[in-house]
Amino acid sequence: MPKITVEGEGSFELPVGKKLVLGVEDAGIDILHRCGGQAKCTTCRVVVLEGDPPPMGEVEHARLSEEEDWEGNYRLSCQMRPSNPLTVRVINRSHLKGIEPGPRPED
Ligand code: FES
Repeated sequence: MPKITVEGEGSFELPVGKKLVLGVEDAGIDILHRCGGQAKCTTCRVVVLEGDPPPMGEVEHARLSEEEDWEGNYRLSCQMRPSNPLTVRVINRSHLKGIEPGPRPED
């Protein structure tokens, strides 16, 4: 199981094949996922600070390429199933935005 470190929060083990957004949420971090993991809202995006993330799929690439700043290390955590250790920064938190996280993405 890869070790996932969330900047400012700590680390957890992510079961192989599990979506990153679900691992982050299950670790008690109130990441937003407003579209329920449909690759539409981008509220689940993270910045990869360290590590070797899995290749970007077509759906994720298509959605992120619509964003002006997508050339950074942004990834959609609802579309990622990491198999290597990663350190990420969660961009959108429910308690900071003052909104509900959104429907839980399916695994
Ligand atoms: S893009 Fe909406 S939850 Fe990931």
